[in-house]
Amino acid sequence: MRNQLVVGNWKLHGSLLENQSLLNLLKQSLHDLHGVDTAVCLPYVYLFQAQAMLQDSAIAWGAQNVSQFTEGAYTSCVSAAMVAEFGCRYSIVGHSERRALKLESNQVATKRVLHALHAGLTPIFCVGETVDERDGGMAELIVKNQMLNIVYGLDDEAFALAKKFNMVIAYEPVWAIGTGQHASPEQAQRMHAFIRWMIAERDPEFATQIRIVYGGSLSPSNAQSLLSMPDIDGGLLGRAALVAEDFIQICRTAALCQHQKQSAVEPPTPQPVSLA
Ligand code: 13P
Repeated sequence: MRNQLVVGNWKLHGSLLENQSLLNLLKQSLHDLHGVDTAVCLPYVYLFQAQAMLQDSAIAWGAQNVSQFTEGAYTSCVSAAMVAEFGCRYSIVGHSERRALKLESNQVATKRVLHALHAGLTPIFCVGETVDERDGGMAELIVKNQMLNIVYGLDDEAFALAKKFNMVIAYEPVWAIGTGQHASPEQAQRMHAFIRWMIAERDPEFATQIRIVYGGSLSPSNAQSLLSMPDIDGGLLGRAALVAEDFIQICRTAALCQHQKQSAVEPPTPQPVSLA
C-alpha cells in the first residue's frame, strides 16, 4: 500500500533564522504520524542547515531542482551529486515555474530526472496544464505529452532506478498554483488516474506503487477532500508549507486519509481513462 507523501516546496523563501523556527516546529509535531512521509524542499543554500536540523527527525529534505549536467562550465548550476552530498532524499524536477521561464523543456526535465536518479535521489516530476489548455479541452493531452518522456523515454536501466528510488509524480495544474483556486477533487482524481494508467501501460506493478501527489492551492480546508481520493497520494505544497500550523494540519489530514484508505477493502487497479 502506498504511503501518503506531503512535501513542502519553499520556493524562494526562507532565512537562516526563519528556517530554524519553522523546522523546529515541524520536528516537534511530525514525529508520530503513521502512513505519511514528510519532506521539505528548500533553496540550495539552506540544504546544509536542513541536514543539520533534520537528520535525526522523521522529516526528509530535498532540492527544488538539479542540473541536467554532471559538471563543467555551467555557471550557477548545481548537480544532483552535489545535493545528494547534503543528505537530500528528493529533488523536484520540471516545476511549472521552471518550465515557464523557458529553461525546462520536457527533454531537459527528463535529463534532470536521469541525473537525480543516478545520484540516488527521488525525483518529484511535476506536470500540469495552464488555464487556456484546460479551457481548450487539452488538459489530458498536455499532461500526456509531459509524461511521455518519462514513461517511454527512460531506458530499462533508468526505469529500474525510477522504481528503486520510488519516483514521484506531482500533478500541479498551473492555474491552481498560488491562486487560491484548487482543482476539484474530481478534476484531480481524473488526472491522477490518467497518469497512473499511462504508467501502467509500461509497468502495471509500478503503477500501483508510484505516488502521484497533488499541488496547487492545497490548504488545511481542502486537504481532506483531495487527499481522500483514491489516486491522490499526498500533496506538494507552496504557500501552506511556509506556515507551520498549515503544513502540520495537512500532514495530519493525510494520515487520516491514509488510515481510511487502508481500511478500504481492495486498492483500486489502474483503469484506462479516455482522452475525450
Ligand atoms: P501553492 O500551494 O502556493 O499553490 O503552490 C503549489 C506549488 O507550486 C508547489 O510546488
